[in-house]
Amino acid sequence: MAHNRAIPFNRPGLAGNESRYLAEAISRGHISGDGEFTRKCHAFFEQALGLHKALLTTSCTHALEMMAFLLDIQPGDEVILPSFTFVSTANAFVLRGARPVFIDIRQDTLNLDERQLERLISPRTKAIVPVHYAGVGCEMDVIVKIAEKHKIPIVEDNAHGLFGKYRGRYLGTFGCMAAQSFHETKNFTCGEGGALFINDSRYVGRAEIIREKGTNRNQFFRGQVDKYTWVDVGSSYLPSELLAAFLYAQLEAREQIQCKRRRIWEYYREHLQAWAEHHGVRLPLVPETCEQPYHMFYLLLPSLEWRQGLIAHLAARQILSVFHYLPLHLSPMGKKFGGKPGDCPVTETVSDRLLRLPFYNDLAEADQARVVEAITEFHG
Ligand SMILES: Cc1ncc(COP(=O)(O)O)c(C=O)c1O
Repeated sequence: MAHNRAIPFNRPGLAGNESRYLAEAISRGHISGDGEFTRKCHAFFEQALGLHKALLTTSCTHALEMMAFLLDIQPGDEVILPSFTFVSTANAFVLRGARPVFIDIRQDTLNLDERQLERLISPRTKAIVPVHYAGVGCEMDVIVKIAEKHKIPIVEDNAHGLFGKYRGRYLGTFGCMAAQSFHETKNFTCGEGGALFINDSRYVGRAEIIREKGTNRNQFFRGQVDKYTWVDVGSSYLPSELLAAFLYAQLEAREQIQCKRRRIWEYYREHLQAWAEHHGVRLPLVPETCEQPYHMFYLLLPSLEWRQGLIAHLAARQILSVFHYLPLHLSPMGKKFGGKPGDCPVTETVSDRLLRLPFYNDLAEADQARVVEAITEFHG
């Protein structure tokens, strides 16, 4: 029976040309990294967003790790980042010996609370990492001003925010660098993948080297050196051409994908608004200064019990909803850095009450109607 069909939380969608481009990459006989499709993806990002340089990586996690190398993060350095984020935002810097300094989030956008930024800055602060939650921009005007005053670089974790804008400017272009994700839950995907966006030309040369195992292989291919060798620290951060081919097919379909996601987001908002108001449930807020890329739709429920009840209610109807993030400052690792309950009170309550609804490019309207119907039958 159609009604019993499970509705997943996520399902990677195909834009159309993925198989054709994969076959093309295979028939060209070049399936390792930095071939034709990788170049096409780089050019696409550089042109579409006006970036100085884009470099595909094997994940957003790896792009964040590259940033930590490029900023020369050393043991004892401090990096300010929200507690309400994915582990990689912190881990990338912790791997280089940094101490994460967790900042709480705003009640409205769930982005880092810029009003608390200045008091967390110390002589050891080596980076500020805004995470544009759900692709809604952080208050970059204020954050940039504070960072400039203290001469601290900003690097953006823009895993959710490709094509989002803050005051008319693309997210990922505010920091000296930004990290993107093409994991299968993201708007544009190649299964696992990411990119490092570089807005400050000083980082480009070393980024190419770090991405290529610490060698000057890129310069060799451009004919700038006659042999390539080990010149710096590095790792293997470049994805195969097969991933780039898949990703390029998705990027080409930018308009169609964003159009579908917008329709899904607006359907949820329109059909859940009355129920939400009645029950004191908060729907996502997008300030007028922001254009969102429709990455996710979440509910902020009145309590943890409400949230767990709704998850179970939806699961009984074969609908999968998920929550995230567990506050990093209260995780076993976060506690090792001194995190304790009460440090980030908004993060702590939001983490208990947030629920993400099924959201993927090919979510059919009939399925979405089923999700809405199930939710509006729930009264706590
Ligand atoms: C805010 C944020 N940063 C980083 C990542 C890591 O992305 P990836 O899986 O591409 O490494 C995620 C994953 O979803 C994320 O939500």
